[in-house]
Amino acid sequence: MTAGKSARTFADRLLDWYDVHGRRDLPWQHPRTPYRVWISEIMLQQTQVATVIPYFERWMTAFPDLPALANAGEDDVLAHWSGLGYYARARNILKAARTCMEQNDGRLPEGADELAGLPGIGRSTANAIVSQASDRPAAVLDGNVRRVLARHTATAGWTGSAKVQKTLWQEAEDRLPAKHGADYTQAVMDLGALVCTRGKPACPKCPVADDCQALRKGLVDKLPTPKPRGRVGRKTLRMLIARDTNGRVLLEKRPGAGIWGGLWCLPEAKPDHQGFQAMRELPALEHRLSHLQLTIEPLLARPAEGGQIADSADRGWFDRREQARLGLPKPVSDLLDRLDKGEFT
Ligand code: ADE
Repeated sequence: MTAGKSARTFADRLLDWYDVHGRRDLPWQHPRTPYRVWISEIMLQQTQVATVIPYFERWMTAFPDLPALANAGEDDVLAHWSGLGYYARARNILKAARTCMEQNDGRLPEGADELAGLPGIGRSTANAIVSQASDRPAAVLDGNVRRVLARHTATAGWTGSAKVQKTLWQEAEDRLPAKHGADYTQAVMDLGALVCTRGKPACPKCPVADDCQALRKGLVDKLPTPKPRGRVGRKTLRMLIARDTNGRVLLEKRPGAGIWGGLWCLPEAKPDHQGFQAMRELPALEHRLSHLQLTIEPLLARPAEGGQIADSADRGWFDRREQARLGLPKPVSDLLDRLDKGEFT
């Protein structure tokens, strides 16, 4: 350990590193409004920056501010989330926007506690919004930061457990600088995303390696302790790809609760295929949800002779252009793309 270097605080060393290596041109940083930071933080909760950027830009074109979002329909909002997964995040964003219209003149609250009272915003996200939008120091503890802190302090135990969370929150608070709240939040997240990565961390490039306890003890590969393995469920979904003579595809809106709640989906095939004919089985595909391994068995079909399947509020025939305006689960939009390319004819 070189005494001179470690005498500088964790935050000082991190902020110096951020000046040179950090990400300063992310779209939500220009302009860094509370609304834009909020949407980016929710999108980034389970998804990497590179994936999020085009979604974020399309979102801001469609819903440039909170009132525009609050006035949008749920289908439109889900369509702009389509492919990001964890759709409850999008439904919560819409609920929160409408709450802000009713209770806060169409603005997000400024305080972290009020923010954390909105649907889908936890303590870390609330602080990420406050720190970045107001440049006030506020501790964050997302997945990247947990990994950084678990290693830097050599804290063992699953970082999602209450005990480890308590320790890491305290560490996160203790390391906050007095100033530069926005840069510090981005710096500690960037350190986790770019240097202190899950596999093959770049310790020689780390600005806080000097006093990293995991590095000192040879535990970098062992920390953070993995989550105790829960059982992953399995489910098979038989999906009907039914086309009418105009090539339109039958889609149904799923109920609000359960997998893909509120999204438009291919109908689940019934054992007797009532109302359909010319069935052909297509190769099965696998799709992983957080707690469920899905096997999707697509069946190609058309309406039975004389069979009428009428449109309703949650069922209809959609052409390609109309499909693009709906919120569709990723494997469904993939299947529809392949259908459109003629792969199944
Ligand atoms: N994950 C969550 N918030 C993030 C941010 N602002 N930058 C990079 N990754 C993030």
